[in-house]
Amino acid sequence: MAKNEQPIRLWGGRFTGVTDPLMDQYNESLSMDRVFYAQDIKGSIAYARANVKTGILTQEEFEIIEKGLGEVMKEWEQGKFEPAPGDEDIHTANERRLGEVIGTHIAGKLHTGRSRNDQVATDMRMWLRDELILIEEYLVDLLKVIAQRAEQDIDYIMPSYTHLQRAQPIRWSHWLLSYATAFQSDLERLRFTKKNVNKLPLGCGAVAGNAFGIDRVQMAKELGFEGLIMNSMSAVGDRDFVVEVLQCASSIGSHLSRWSEDLIIYSSLEFGYVKLADAYTTGSSLMPQKKNSDSLELLRGKSGRMFGAMAGLMMSIKGIPSTYNKDLQESVQPMLDTVKTLKDSLQIAARSLATATVYPEKMRAALSPDMLATDLAEYLVRKGVPFRETHHLAGRMVALAEDENKGMNELTVKQYQSVDKRFGDDVLSVFDYERSVELKSTTGGTSRSAVLEQLEALKKSLSG
Ligand code: ARG
Repeated sequence: MAKNEQPIRLWGGRFTGVTDPLMDQYNESLSMDRVFYAQDIKGSIAYARANVKTGILTQEEFEIIEKGLGEVMKEWEQGKFEPAPGDEDIHTANERRLGEVIGTHIAGKLHTGRSRNDQVATDMRMWLRDELILIEEYLVDLLKVIAQRAEQDIDYIMPSYTHLQRAQPIRWSHWLLSYATAFQSDLERLRFTKKNVNKLPLGCGAVAGNAFGIDRVQMAKELGFEGLIMNSMSAVGDRDFVVEVLQCASSIGSHLSRWSEDLIIYSSLEFGYVKLADAYTTGSSLMPQKKNSDSLELLRGKSGRMFGAMAGLMMSIKGIPSTYNKDLQESVQPMLDTVKTLKDSLQIAARSLATATVYPEKMRAALSPDMLATDLAEYLVRKGVPFRETHHLAGRMVALAEDENKGMNELTVKQYQSVDKRFGDDVLSVFDYERSVELKSTTGGTSRSAVLEQLEALKKSLSG
C-alpha cells in the first residue's frame, strides 16, 4: 500500500479523508460554543497580559496580541468571522484567526501553559454568570408582578382546593403568594449558585496547574471573577456549576408548571376565574369558539425539557474518570437550551399574569356553604366543645343539608339545635366567607392582615 493511501475499510467506501467527516461533525462544538466568542477573546487577553509578568510575552508582543484579538472580536461582532474547516471549537477558531491576523510566531505563544480544558471552563463560567444576572432579573420581575396583583386583588375570595376538591375559602392573593413563596426560594438558590459559577478556572492548564507562575488573582480581577477554583484538577474536570444552574432551572420550571396547571384549570369555562389576554392564547384551526391557554401549556411543557437537560447532563458526567474528558463538551447544549428556555419562560409567565383578567364574581359563585363546615365545627369549639365531637356534629349538619337538598346556610336554627343544643341562635353567622378568611389571621393564613404580612416580607426580600 502506498504511503498516503487509506486502508480499505470493511464497512464501506464512503470515507475519503484521514478523519471520518462524520467524526469531524460529531466532534465539533463551534456551532454551539461560538456564542462564547467574546468571553474567549477577553479570557485570552487577560491570559496574555498575565503572561507578560511571567516573561513568556514581551509587553510589545502582548500589545500585538491584544490588538489582533480586538480585530477578531470585531469580525464576530459584525458577523464577518469566517470559520475554517479545521475549526473544531471557538478556542481553535479564535487562535487560528489570530495567527492569520498577526502571524503565527507571536500568536503561537499565547497558548503557553494554557489548555482548552481551563479555557472552555472559563468561557462557560463567564457566559453563564452574565446570563444568570438576566435570569435573576426576570425572576424578580415575575415576583413583582405577583406582588402587584396580590396587593391590587386582595379583596377577591375564592375556593382553595386539596385533591382538587373544594376545601376552604381563601383570598386569591393568598394563592398568588403561595407561588411567590416557592419562587422566592428559587431566587435564593439562584443567588447562591451565581457565586459558585463566578470562580476562575483559568491558569490551571490541562490538569496539573501552570508551570510559569501565572498570576491567577490578577486574571480573576481583570475578568470579574470573585475567586479562584483552588484545585487544577477540579477546575478542568468540573461541570457542577452547569448542573447547579440546570437544577435551579428545573426547580423554577417545576413551580412554573404547577402554577400554569392551576391557571389552566382556573381559566377553563367551568371555573372562569381568570382569562388570559389574547396575546398569550391561540385559537383552534377547526373549532371557532376555542381560546387556548397556550402560554401556560408551553410553560408546563418546556419545564419538562429543562428537567430533561438536567437529568441528561448528570447522567453524562456521573461516571467519567477524573478531570477533563470529552464527555464534558455535552454540557454546552443543555446549558444553552435551558438558559434560553428559562429566560423566555420567566418573561412569558410574568406577562401572562400581568395581563390576565380576574373574575372575582366567578370565584365567589364557586364558593358554597359546605366549604364552611370546618368553620361550623370551630364555632362549637369556641363554645367549649372538643373538636372531635364538633367535627362529627358539623358532619351531621352537612348530611342533613344534603338530605333536605338545601345549603347549610338555609337550614333553620331550630334544625341546628335539634341536632345539638349547643348550637346557639347566632349559628348562621358562620356562613359568611369573609368572616371565614378573616379568622385565619395567624401568620401564614389567608386573612387580610396575614396576607399583607406575606406581601411585606416578599417586597422586602425583593428590594434587598
Ligand atoms: N470544545 C471542548 C469542550 O467544550 C474544549 C475542550 C477540548 N479539550 C480537549 N482536550 N480536547 O469541552
